[in-house]
Amino acid sequence: MKSLTGQEIRRAFKQFFAERGHMVLPSFPLVPKDDPTLLWINAGMAPLKPYFDGREIPEVPRIVDAQKCIRTNDIEEVGHTARHQTFFEMLGNFSFGDYFKLEAITWAWEFLTQVLELDPERISVTIHEDDDEAFEVWHHRVGLPASRIYRGKEDNFWEIGEGPCGPCSEIFYDRGEAYGCGSPDCKPGCDCDRFLEIWNLVFTQFNKNADGSYSPLPKKNIDTGSGLERLASILQDVPNNFETDLFRPIINRAAELSGRPYGRSAEDDVHLKIIADHVRTVTFAIGDGVLPSNEGRGYVIRRLLRRAVRSGRKLGVERPFLYELVAVVDRIMGDDYPEVREKRSLIERVVRTEEERFLQTLAAGEELLNRTIEEVKARGETVLSGEAAFRLYDTYGFPIDLTVEIAREKGIAVDREGFERELEEQRARAREARQVAEGMQSQRGALETFTEPSRFVGYDELTVDATIIGLFQDGDRVDGLAIGEEGQVILDVTPFYAESGGQVGDRGEIVGANGKAEVLDVQKAPHGQHVMRVRVVDGSLLQGDSVRAHVDEDFRRDIVKNHTATHLLHKALRDVLGTHVAQAGSLVEPERLRFDFSHFGPLTDEELAEVERRVNDEIWRDHAVHIREMDLDEAKAMGAMALFGEKYGQRVRVVQAGESIELCGGCHVPRTSVIGQFLITSETGIASGTRRIEAVTGRYAYRVAREREERLRQVADALKTNVSTVVERAQRVVQEMRELERELESAKARLAHARVDELVANVETVAGVPVIRAALSDLDMDGLRQLVDEIKARVDSVVVVLGSAHRGKVQFVAYVSKDWQSRGLHAGEIVKQVAAVTGGGGGGRPDLAQAGGRDAAKLAEAIQKVGEILEQVAGNRAH
Ligand code: ALA
Repeated sequence: MKSLTGQEIRRAFKQFFAERGHMVLPSFPLVPKDDPTLLWINAGMAPLKPYFDGREIPEVPRIVDAQKCIRTNDIEEVGHTARHQTFFEMLGNFSFGDYFKLEAITWAWEFLTQVLELDPERISVTIHEDDDEAFEVWHHRVGLPASRIYRGKEDNFWEIGEGPCGPCSEIFYDRGEAYGCGSPDCKPGCDCDRFLEIWNLVFTQFNKNADGSYSPLPKKNIDTGSGLERLASILQDVPNNFETDLFRPIINRAAELSGRPYGRSAEDDVHLKIIADHVRTVTFAIGDGVLPSNEGRGYVIRRLLRRAVRSGRKLGVERPFLYELVAVVDRIMGDDYPEVREKRSLIERVVRTEEERFLQTLAAGEELLNRTIEEVKARGETVLSGEAAFRLYDTYGFPIDLTVEIAREKGIAVDREGFERELEEQRARAREARQVAEGMQSQRGALETFTEPSRFVGYDELTVDATIIGLFQDGDRVDGLAIGEEGQVILDVTPFYAESGGQVGDRGEIVGANGKAEVLDVQKAPHGQHVMRVRVVDGSLLQGDSVRAHVDEDFRRDIVKNHTATHLLHKALRDVLGTHVAQAGSLVEPERLRFDFSHFGPLTDEELAEVERRVNDEIWRDHAVHIREMDLDEAKAMGAMALFGEKYGQRVRVVQAGESIELCGGCHVPRTSVIGQFLITSETGIASGTRRIEAVTGRYAYRVAREREERLRQVADALKTNVSTVVERAQRVVQEMRELERELESAKARLAHARVDELVANVETVAGVPVIRAALSDLDMDGLRQLVDEIKARVDSVVVVLGSAHRGKVQFVAYVSKDWQSRGLHAGEIVKQVAAVTGGGGGGRPDLAQAGGRDAAKLAEAIQKVGEILEQVAGNRAH
């Protein structure tokens, strides 16, 4: 057996099949293209589906590659077993209507035994129970003894829903008894680590039909998959995938950063493996354009990152560190996967931002949790309610198992059932909300069966003469709508744009011989007609009426400015921030535009200014806006930007404004200069990895500029100066304020000293104990504790109890010097009883403790109580 690195195995595989007429392809991206059935590419054959089912014909019928794959069904297992991973590489050779079983089997054998030099005696295979052809090749051609050819059923048939499928033959390598489970039934296919499945050869010879039956495929295919990490574990003679050179450097670096070496504790090792696995997955996914978010692929990435952060915390790392591992992934994989090398700094930034954000979340959640736990304890209870745990989870994204863990460390249990109940209730609420939304959609009723066409002419005309061909109210077809009534209208020809692609529906009016209606909104009907929602303001609208339909010109004029500006903004963002910027949503209204896009963090002021400047430059360059229909392929060849996940037909509409080229069905200005001016009014984050820009154009931009100037003038007025000197004036005022604050601080400190003098001078003796106590009204907890510190420094033997009602909060602090602690006095006990007088609670250590109260009116009474408490303790001592 040879000893080879992961990279050497990968390259040897490609070379072996290249020498046998295969075209070597780079890995396809992890994000499936035109395949809504998959979240991630999860097998070598997945991106090749169109070749398998004959939708497309490959350039050559033989292909070999190493495909990046993500599978997340067994996330929880990662780190606990030898082989579970979320990211892996599948080596595969494929034949489309070319060679079949004979070559697939004999080449696999040759590669394993002659190139990798695996011991042939250790190799066994499974075949489908009916596949005599495969038996024939393995036994008679290869010479494998029949005793090492096992026949199976389900495990030896490969299918994924409808389409090409077929029997398969799995190849196993025997790692020896030491790896086995010891069961007498242990054989290839057993779950233990002895017989490692290293290659699956799928002979796609059937088509699975919609009715579940199978028919022979006219052109048979070969699909094979071999897990690179497994092969590496054998050839490097290590017990699990994580100890191969594909993982070990990442583990080593994580061990270095955490100071917890690999191989010392089983628990630490699990976390190091989780980190190494998840970092690889995240690195490759971000490299392929996925950013952390709250749904879909972005959510998978977020979850993996958060799991890795948590594993880091278990290893004692409390700061961002995963991003430092990206460089190691690049070192191991970057030669063969250049995307990782090219995008490395972007990947590092995204990972780091996400880590920082999650650590903040954890810190905020932990603080709240600790406070809640203290409250539970103060009430003398031992269980944290499910409601409290759910609040942490819901508002802070604080994981429930972390809540349980932290609570357990403090001797508090968590009501998990209660938590699950809250969670279920929330899900039910979400379901209900969805039903309402769907209900609104499906109110269409009669519209669903209305198929008469309506022609949209609104790209070129804003006023047309038309005939009412359909009227609807509350989902029913009606003959007429009377004054004051709302309903829906369909015309045989309409100038009204129906909401789509972010552009809102037009407004305007429909005027007929019998009456007039205002158009409130326009949507597309199930059969594509533009449906105007109207309110009749005069007379009535009747089925068959001849009408004049008229779009509000101002409304449309403002809309088109914002729509074209949205395209220019998209282009400017990609130029300034990078091509990872992808449109995530948009809203084009007359008054403003809103554009959501993927990007990992807030834009700097400079970036925003640069984006704004570029858009305005494009406006003032006065580009003609060209709109043409063409074939999708032609549009793609032009570099037209299409929305990710959007389905386009074969003919598409392409809008070109300067260098911006987009597929778009919306309305636009004829020349960019018509937009006038573009002003960004806000930039915010709407989800991690998704930013939102709001902007205005044309007359609204002018209005915003005027408002800004007016506000500036008001600021100048308030600062008693004029606009030209307002900045200097504001700086001076701030400076003066700082000086005054400093003076105030030192005056306060002097006052506090005087107060300590006074308190110390007023030591009373209660039940033989020297006591300083006071009810104050102007100090917060910090102030109270500072006072205690100063008293401590000056008086050796004393009990101090101070209370303060300040800004609506009642707070207490108690201190007991060492000598009095040994005589049975406990600050925590004292403060608890004192606070209880005002309806509060708290407690703490014997020397120093604090508590919160409720009723400020009882502050003096509470302080008075100190005497009683001390008498009582003295009494107990005497007995
Ligand atoms: N498509 C086959 C598998 O994933 C090779 O096992």
